[in-house]
Amino acid sequence: MKFRKNIYLFIIGVIGFVLLESAVNEYVAEPMTKEKLGSILFEEKLLSRDKTISCASCHIPSLGFADSTKVSKGVFGRIGTRNTPSVMNIKFRPYFFYDGRAATLEEQVHFPVNHPDEMDFSLREGANRINKLDKYRKYFKKIYGKLADSANITNAIVSFEMTLETEETEFDNWMQDKPNNMSESAKRGRKLFLNPKTKCFECHFSPDFTGDDFKNVGMFDGKTMKDVGRFTITKDSADLGKFKVPTLRNVAKTPPYMHNGYFKTLKEVIDYYDDPLKLLPNAINRDTLLNAPLHLTEQEKIDLEQFLISLTDKKVYK
Ligand code: HEC
Ligand code: HEC
Repeated sequence: MKFRKNIYLFIIGVIGFVLLESAVNEYVAEPMTKEKLGSILFEEKLLSRDKTISCASCHIPSLGFADSTKVSKGVFGRIGTRNTPSVMNIKFRPYFFYDGRAATLEEQVHFPVNHPDEMDFSLREGANRINKLDKYRKYFKKIYGKLADSANITNAIVSFEMTLETEETEFDNWMQDKPNNMSESAKRGRKLFLNPKTKCFECHFSPDFTGDDFKNVGMFDGKTMKDVGRFTITKDSADLGKFKVPTLRNVAKTPPYMHNGYFKTLKEVIDYYDDPLKLLPNAINRDTLLNAPLHLTEQEKIDLEQFLISLTDKKVYK
């Protein structure tokens, strides 16, 4: 009799301990938030048709949320037509994609999921897949009070994207009189960048070094470079060959460059701006700001490059 009683007490003790421990774990573990759920979904391959590609396959966190290939590779090894841009510092942008086809971040999310050369799926089908997993059922119920659907998947991913702001760079620290390692060369480069002589600042202005406009830098001639850019959306011939001016924050981490990944290094980009007519003499609709060579010295080119490098975020993403 006594032995039985002890057994019961023991079992009750074990159950009590397990319950208590899970309650403590729940309390102590970091709470699940929209942003965190978004970061998990950003890496979720179930959102692509063949389950091999997530947002992070192309927007690789350690590479400034861009990738290192000229154009990106999607499901079934399909090759896209444009270079993957970073998704950092996009919180305040009024347009997304090189041609500006999405005006809000919410509108933006379904494009890569639907795109045949990217994930070739739909948010609705993706929701069906992830609702089969306990962890997602739990997370979505907890945060949104219901299972995953297109709208709350989008909301979670957008919430995560909005956290990706570069905050600490040598340049910002220097500007704010915080301890920094801004080199003399980078300081000269900044002056040059602001100088009307280089015209950089006419298109790439503060605080994220993009005017949030569409411009034609001379990389469209309809023959060797055929991407019409903004024209696809507006059908206005004045927009032929115009692309969204990209932010230059973290740009050192995101080679290759331009909508088509044509330039492998920042040096190549700067050499291009030095004499934009050399690459495509018959470029159509090139911006008049780029009609004449800049005649930069080798030192000036290095200084500009050092300035661009000083815009690199110190935070490391894995
Ligand atoms: C197969 C590679 C690939 C995948 C997967 C992918 N992207 Fe992209 N992403 C790109 C490319 C390429 C562009 C530029 C396309 C264009 O401008 O036409 C882009 C553009 C973007 C932009 C616009 C950035 C800007 O500055 O305008 C955002 C935001 C973005 N992607 C987020 C996402 C999210 C969120 C996912 C997952 C749901 C995702 N991407 C999946 C390749 C990819
Ligand atoms: C007329 C406007 C304009 C001027 C002037 C200009 N840019 Fe740009 N810049 C752009 C546009 C538009 C792009 C994107 C072009 C594309 O994708 O084909 C770009 C792209 C870049 C890129 C590549 C970014 C990336 O992520 O691919 C760098 C670096 C850059 N510019 C630096 C500079 C520097 C340095 C100067 C001055 C020497 C300068 N720009 C002058 C409009 C301009």
